[in-house]
Formats: sequence, structure tokens, C-alpha cells
Amino acid sequence: VPLQQHNSFGIVARAQHLVRIGEEADVAALLADDRWREAPKFVLGGGSNIVLTGDVKPLVLKVEIKGRRLVEETSRAWIVEAGAGEIWHDTVRWTLEQGYPGLENFALIPGTVGGSPVQNIGAYGVELQDRFHSLDAIDIETGRSFTLDAAQCAFGYRDSVFKHVGAGENDFGLAGRALITRVRFRLPRPWKPELGYLDLERKMGETGNFSPSAMEIFDWICAIRRAKLPDWRVLGNAGSFFKNPTVTPEQCADIIARDPKIVHYPMADGSIKLAAGWLIDACGWKGKSVGNAGVYERQALVLVNRGGKENPVTGGEVMTLAKAIQTSVYERFGIRLEPEPVVV
Ligand code: EPU
Repeated sequence: VPLQQHNSFGIVARAQHLVRIGEEADVAALLADDRWREAPKFVLGGGSNIVLTGDVKPLVLKVEIKGRRLVEETSRAWIVEAGAGEIWHDTVRWTLEQGYPGLENFALIPGTVGGSPVQNIGAYGVELQDRFHSLDAIDIETGRSFTLDAAQCAFGYRDSVFKHVGAGENDFGLAGRALITRVRFRLPRPWKPELGYLDLERKMGETGNFSPSAMEIFDWICAIRRAKLPDWRVLGNAGSFFKNPTVTPEQCADIIARDPKIVHYPMADGSIKLAAGWLIDACGWKGKSVGNAGVYERQALVLVNRGGKENPVTGGEVMTLAKAIQTSVYERFGIRLEPEPVVV
């Protein structure tokens, strides 16, 4: 089965077998089948945060569980549920159209609802954990269903329990084990706009609108993202390729002494977050290419497929470029950049 359509880089790779999971019962049926019960399995959502470096040998479970509904409405919040296979952006728009604001800052993030808790998606001052209620999942080894709340998901910056491999009995890592089926969001009432991000402050200044509605913020975010992030349908990519690194105030002062313009943000815990895009940019990588892997002209944190559909980038080329970037950022700043997408 070709996977080129199933990953946002547009990398060519094949899966030996792919099964579409349209409802919870499909997983049970699969595990009841002697041919598949013991087979290694790989859960695929929107494919917007992966780098395929070869063919995928495990059985691919493509999650296509649909459905959206208001679960509960109280004076304090709306609880909204969506199937893991729903397109993320369409779901955000749907909540706004239904009158449940709160997800507007997450407009235009590629991928599916099921992928959102895996990497605790974040954009423009909000992280998924700020709007998360709970999720349902199935253990693909045992077939057991379970529900996790926010604490059990162990959210961190671009991180969750779903990115960690469980080592033993008491280790809670769920990487490779959980197939997320449904996600519930908690949207606090009364709604409060999140306008702290510089790009949004700029929009308020430009438009003179200092009390935008949720739908207006949604439109602004779409415009901001379109201006600096490539559309993966046109130019393949997996969003930010590295996480923004954190350093101690001492390390930061050190770098400022040499590079006064470095973009940095103080964090609540006293550490300092650096803009990885700025570090890569400062090393001269913007617009550069290695083979068909390129560094996007308008955002150095995004690696892109320069070969299109005809002559697409390989996972190997992407990783070669990523390593070259890591090396030059390390040599210049002494900082190790960590890749953000999952390398398969
Ligand atoms: N910058 C440069 N040169 C560049 C890129 C950025 O100097 O080539 C500077 C910018 O001028 C800005 C700063 O770096 O001052 C931060 O840039 P930006 O606002 O674009 O945000 P980011 O930190 O690069 C993060 C997320 C994005 C998210 C935006 C907005 C990570 C790894 N990335 O990017 O998430 O959309 O903030 O909240 O945290 C994604 O994960 O795929 C993603 C796109």
C-alpha cells in the first residue's frame, strides 16, 4: 500500500498491510483474527508529524473514527467530543460555528484530532493541555479500552505519555500501544480570548480591533500561518522540525553576550526558551537545500520537500539535512536541537 498520500512530507514509502479503523469494533475484530493478533502494529493518524525513512513493516492502522458532539454544557464549560479520525482544522471550525469557542488559536494546524494529544499541539499562546478534558483509547496489544484524563496523559511541551516507551510494569509509557479513538475538549466559560502572542498583538494594531470575537481570532491565525508556514498540500513538510530548546538564564546570558539579537522567552519555571527558528536562521540555513530537502524561506524551523510529488524528498535526505542543521547550531551555540516529528 503506498503511503505517499498518507504523510504530509509526501515521502514515498509503502506499508505491507494497511487496515482502516472506522470504529472501535474494527480493532476488536482485528485482534480476534489469528492472522493479525500478534502482528506488530503501527497507528497512523493524519501523517502530519512523521518522517518515513523506509517501508513500514508493521501492520498500519489508519484511524478514521468520525463524529463530533457536545457531551455536556455547564455554567463553567462546554465539553465537546470528536472522533480521532476527524480533521483537526475542520473540527476547530465546527466548534466555533456551533458556538463553543476556545480552540480558535489552534486553527490550521495540520493532522487529525487523534494526533493532537500525542504531541500536545500548541500554537499562539495555547497548548492542547489547556483545553483538554479526557480521551478514549484502545490498547492494541490486549484490546482493552481505557480513558485517560489530562494528568494521566502526562502532557509536556510537545510531549505526552504517547511519545514514551513503557519500560516495565510500573512505567506508564504508551508509545506504540495506544490507539486513540476519541478526544474530549474542555472549553471554559465564559470564553476569554488568548491574545498574548506578538503576531496577534500586531493584528490588533493593524485592524484597530482590540476585542476580536473567537471567529475573528480564528481568521487572524489562519492569515498569520498562511503568511509564514507552507501548505503541505503545495510544499510537503511536517511543521516545525525541531522543538524550541530551553536553557538556563546563565546559558542564555552567555549567548546574548555574543548574539544580542537572539529571540528568547522567560518561562514560568525560571528557564529560558529559545526560538529554534532564529538559531537555525542565524546559522545561515534559511532557503538552503540538501538534495530535495530544503529549509523553508520564511520560517527556518520548517523543513520542506523540494521535489514535489514527482521527485519527492526521501526520509534519508530529510534526516541528513536535519543532522547538518543540528551540527551547525551545536557548533555555534552549544545547543542540541531535538527533532519534533516522529521518525519512522
Ligand atoms: N524566527 C527567526 N527566523 C526564522 C524563524 C523564526 O528569526 O526563520 C524568529 C521569529 O522572528 C520569532 C521567533 O523566531 O521572533 C519565533 O517564531 P514563530 O513565532 O514563527 O514561532 P516558533 O517558535 O518558530 C512555535 C511552534 C509552532 C507554532 C508557533 C506559533 C514549536 C516547535 N513550534 O514556532 O508550531 O505554530 O510557535 O505558536 O514550538 C509546529 O509545531 O509544527 C508548529 C508550527
